[in-house]
Amino acid sequence: MTRRIGLGVVGCGGAARTLYEPAFRLLGNGRIVAAMDVDESRARGFSETYGVPKHYTRLEDILRDEEVEAVVVLTPPHHHVEPVIKAAEHGKHVYCEKPFAPTIREADEMIEACRRSSVKLMVGFMKRFNRSFRLVKKLIDGGELGQVFELRERWDNARIWKMGEDQYRLKLYSGGGFLQEDGSHPLDVARWWLGEVKEVNAYVDIVAPDRHETEDTACVTLKHGSGALSTLHITMAAHTVGDESYEVFGTRGTLVMRWLYHSSRSPEPALIHLHRGSRETVDLTLGCSWSPLAELRENWQYLKELEHFCDCIIKDEEPACKGEDGRAVVEIVNAAYLSAWRRERVRLPLRETPSFKEFFTRLRSESRWEIGGDWVSWY
Ligand SMILES: NC(=O)c1ccc[n+]([C@@H]2O[C@H](COP(=O)([O-])OP(=O)(O)OC[C@H]3O[C@@H](n4cnc5c(N)ncnc54)[C@H](O)[C@@H]3O)[C@@H](O)[C@H]2O)c1
Repeated sequence: MTRRIGLGVVGCGGAARTLYEPAFRLLGNGRIVAAMDVDESRARGFSETYGVPKHYTRLEDILRDEEVEAVVVLTPPHHHVEPVIKAAEHGKHVYCEKPFAPTIREADEMIEACRRSSVKLMVGFMKRFNRSFRLVKKLIDGGELGQVFELRERWDNARIWKMGEDQYRLKLYSGGGFLQEDGSHPLDVARWWLGEVKEVNAYVDIVAPDRHETEDTACVTLKHGSGALSTLHITMAAHTVGDESYEVFGTRGTLVMRWLYHSSRSPEPALIHLHRGSRETVDLTLGCSWSPLAELRENWQYLKELEHFCDCIIKDEEPACKGEDGRAVVEIVNAAYLSAWRRERVRLPLRETPSFKEFFTRLRSESRWEIGGDWVSWY
């Protein structure tokens, strides 16, 4: 019989209730034995929805629960450090959502705490478990594109957040904005596909200064150790249903991967086309099942990453996506802010990470844009 890891969910908000829902329901090698949220109604509501026997509002209580072998940390990024470190100190393995942390210091503290306690630490970059992203990785590593010299990433969304009290996103106290929050994903993909980043250059902006305290728009250029260049264009002020695309330029082919809508929200595969020369195009789009349930079971990226995490605990193996991968993206995001602030290219490793409050405050006050109060986000 398959061993099932006892999981405790810390943070029962939007991600727990939506993106992870199929994962929590279909996970074969793990089961949720307890849930915790500082908001009692959320912890209770989550437990009722999933039939979880115990729920708590205090971190210490879920960590003292002997049935909990590992925690799934789904709190806002500026609240990752406490549950991760305390979980490690209680000998619990840790799965932590991205962005791993707002600062490198917090990332280092979490990595060190898990290392000291010899517990697994995995960061939730679920695209690494998405079959379309994995196919592109395989093609790149297999030399199908030749030498990859450039990657262009686009991440657009119509997602203007209201400044609600319970919404941490794009608030000064959360440490960063849309680049930190959503941009972490494509930045991780760039590093995963093209290798370590050596230099960062960025512009960031606030297009909705009446609602956002941190950046909602950014353009980031990365220079990788291989010499390859990657760029990320990201805005949440687009008038589209959401656009996510990746263009990989190699000396033997150009690959274009495009999602009809953001990959996070659909189990369907991406459209993938490989162009050779200007006359040959190969359609590499993956097929999918007639059964939506089978599709979720086989391909839901949030399920696949949790299965991998539980597998690593069962087999005592290192997760494919480690704390160091989360830290690397924190460093890139911080370097991007520094680059935009100082108007200069920033070489990694980053030697200083100042507080960016002053930068964001000035950026907001100097914003030239006004989107108007009638903007309706579909969110
Ligand atoms: N991988 C993805 O596609 C994806 C998508 C959405 C969110 N996320 C990540 O998941 C995390 C949570 O995002 P969300 O959208 O669910 O946020 P949210 O604000 O909807 O929910 C966060 C929950 O954490 C609770 N909380 C806050 N501080 C806490 C603490 N100290 N201890 C316990 N509970 C606490 C809040 O009460 C809330 O219920 C973030 O790191 C976010 O970036 C990832």
